[in-house]
Amino acid sequence: MPRPSILIARAIFPEVVDKLAAHFDVEANQADELWPREQFIQRLQGKQGVFTTGGERIDAALLAQAPGLKICANMAVGHNNFDLPAMTAAGVLATNAPGVLTETTADMGFALLMAAARRVTESEHYLRAGRWDRWSCDMMIGQDVHGSTLGIVGMGRIGQAIARRGALGFGMQVIYHNRSRLPEAEEAAVGARYAGLDELLRTADHVVLVVPYTPEAHHMIGAAQIALMKPTATLVNIGRGGLIDEDALAQALQAGRIAAAGLDVFEGEPKVNPALLACANVVLTPHIASATVPTRKAMAHLAADNLIGYLAQGRAVTPLNPEVMGGA
Ligand code: DGY
Repeated sequence: MPRPSILIARAIFPEVVDKLAAHFDVEANQADELWPREQFIQRLQGKQGVFTTGGERIDAALLAQAPGLKICANMAVGHNNFDLPAMTAAGVLATNAPGVLTETTADMGFALLMAAARRVTESEHYLRAGRWDRWSCDMMIGQDVHGSTLGIVGMGRIGQAIARRGALGFGMQVIYHNRSRLPEAEEAAVGARYAGLDELLRTADHVVLVVPYTPEAHHMIGAAQIALMKPTATLVNIGRGGLIDEDALAQALQAGRIAAAGLDVFEGEPKVNPALLACANVVLTPHIASATVPTRKAMAHLAADNLIGYLAQGRAVTPLNPEVMGGA
């Protein structure tokens, strides 16, 4: 039997390329070129698997042009680049990388919360610009994190890890909103109380979004939702950019309608809305919530294990549409 062929869409750790090359004929993009979609499709010809990193759209139109494809393995927990129904209809397995990035991503959510509430990056820019020439009692004063109320929107693994940090590390009252309520024991374990979205927005001192992006969640935070928040509140987004209406957020930040924001994800990333760039009271990071060496390696190995598991052994580790399995 000839070995399966796979495509690796972006540059990844060489050790993971080597691991995959032990099982497959590999076309790797170690130059990390951004292939236009037509070129990506052309490179998929004759491939049974593709290692994706979250930026490659896999939909019905692409699948129709890549008939040999059996599995797309995302090196990300988010999978809004996959049209899952189209993949299932085409008999193509989708996998993601859950679990391995939970704590790292929660750390970053908390880092953004603290940086926004305590004006860390704004202060640093002020200092580096040579504007710090004396002490003053209201210089860069912000909001407390400890003892405040933390509102988490999206209470999956990462939301719960953020809740633990808030409740156990910072003595925060934790409220959360989620599509479905957690069992009581799980709420108690992370010290969290369920709330409707409007109540959460009205009550929380710090709001963190960790919701997966779906068309229904598009701009779930817009002008009307921001208007419910306290003027002292901060808003953090480590989910996906499309969750927030960025123009409305920029207007609210400029007007002091809320105190500050921390954003790791953007609707048009890697382009950032110029209105946000013009706001001093927003901390902006380039989608790095999972970016530590051990975590990115674990994510890459899990994506590779999914390809090897499915194409070589018939079982993927973390399938999103397990009903497809068995077709390899
Ligand atoms: C994910 O895994 O979805 C992250 O956003 C990628 O870093």
